[in-house]
Amino acid sequence: MRVAMIGTGYVGLVSGACFADFGHDVACVDKDRGKIEALKRGDIPIFEPGLAELVDVNLRAGRLSFTTDLAEPVRNAEAIFIAVGTPSRRGDGHADLSYVHTAAREIAQHLDGFTVVVTKSTVPVGTGDEVERIIRQVRPDADVAVVSNPEFLREGAAIRDFKHPDRIVVGTDDPRAREVMASLYRPLYLNAAPILYSGRSTAELIKYAANAFLATKITFINEIAELCEKVGADVQEVARGIGLDNRIGTKFLHAGPGFGGSCFPKDAQALIKTAQDHAAPLRIVEAVLAVNDVRKRAMARKVAAALGGNLRNRTIALLGLTFKPSTDDMREAPSIALVTALRDMGATVRAYDPAGMEQAKLVLDEVTYCDGPYACAEGADALVIVTEWEQFRALDLDRLKQVMATPVLVDLRNVYRPDEMARRGFIYDSVGRPRPLDRRSD
Ligand SMILES: NC(=O)c1ccc[n+]([C@@H]2O[C@H](COP(=O)([O-])OP(=O)(O)OC[C@H]3O[C@@H](n4cnc5c(N)ncnc54)[C@H](O)[C@@H]3O)[C@@H](O)[C@H]2O)c1
Repeated sequence: MRVAMIGTGYVGLVSGACFADFGHDVACVDKDRGKIEALKRGDIPIFEPGLAELVDVNLRAGRLSFTTDLAEPVRNAEAIFIAVGTPSRRGDGHADLSYVHTAAREIAQHLDGFTVVVTKSTVPVGTGDEVERIIRQVRPDADVAVVSNPEFLREGAAIRDFKHPDRIVVGTDDPRAREVMASLYRPLYLNAAPILYSGRSTAELIKYAANAFLATKITFINEIAELCEKVGADVQEVARGIGLDNRIGTKFLHAGPGFGGSCFPKDAQALIKTAQDHAAPLRIVEAVLAVNDVRKRAMARKVAAALGGNLRNRTIALLGLTFKPSTDDMREAPSIALVTALRDMGATVRAYDPAGMEQAKLVLDEVTYCDGPYACAEGADALVIVTEWEQFRALDLDRLKQVMATPVLVDLRNVYRPDEMARRGFIYDSVGRPRPLDRRSD
């Protein structure tokens, strides 16, 4: 099938490359000329494992192309995806739909023959209706079906997620559009990925409800971790103990410094706003966001406590800055609030991240960026694991101890074992687990 992907960011590029890999003919469009020129040369603007190879193979096979001009791709396409950004609107937290509406207007001008316009961007309930209204206003003659097809891929595992999704959600009542969507995703039937058909508004809400629920799970276990610290229990054992109950499940029960990223914070916020507008407030989600916001900064107090309470003139080394491993995405990363709080408390901050330092430099300037974990730890009073990159899982502890001013490790991802770290001579603290000396006889 012929596909146009409007917006070649994280979701558009991954989706476009994967659809091309299924055998479809995909034109990826973006307004960012620099991005498109780079992609044509085979330079990938984001860090995502396996993406460069996938783009390369499909470019060379002639199934994938990049352009800044949507006219021809839109005219030719049987399906046009809108995959532009929907950031938080400045001031009120609603989703900013200006990019989606602009894309709809631009698409409308060039439609030719029956076309399915698919919203892949995460958009509030009712956006599909508005996209359809805009298109019909610009082109009353257009033969078009507007479908919601939210994306659930995770950064860092995006290609795998796109090709092996738990489900594909397709929101439309139009039988012709269902047929087009089924053809597009047919290669995934082999992986037995279920397609869930629903109404358009339902599909839009499924995406927000999913993200809000996952954010709630994380925040729940983070609060349980706080309680564990007070009562001397171990949150990892609690998480396993509840997670083995199939009704709960083991995923998203890892206590840490709070969630960040390009989706959970803004989507939870947008859902709260939609719910308030409809006089159906989502108080649980409101609490989740409030608890999470406070938590990120509170991690600085944990670091201070490990150093006796005072961070003035102390040097703190951070390992990992991105909101999660295997991405260079710094959007809403917990490290941002943590660095700010550490600086406010008088500390000097050094940092190392395997992929995110270029992006980090754009948002965190009062940080000394280092070449590797040991260079980062050099002279530090405390080392803090902020993001659980694989390469931080087997650090040379003796070497760390040699280069650090004091052997203090604050592990915000529970990568190491408290008893082992005590044995290796570290003052060690983690999240929701007893400190080595606090461990009770249970
Ligand atoms: N990043 C994720 O992991 C993820 C996962 C699921 C869903 N989503 C959702 O997908 C959407 C896109 O997210 P993203 O992270 O890919 O955003 P992004 O900011 O990385 O990319 C958006 C791209 O759209 C381009 N663009 C904007 N208006 C355009 C227009 N009129 N014509 C052509 N290009 C245009 C921008 O230049 C940019 O390159 C958002 O709604 C997001 O919430 C993101």
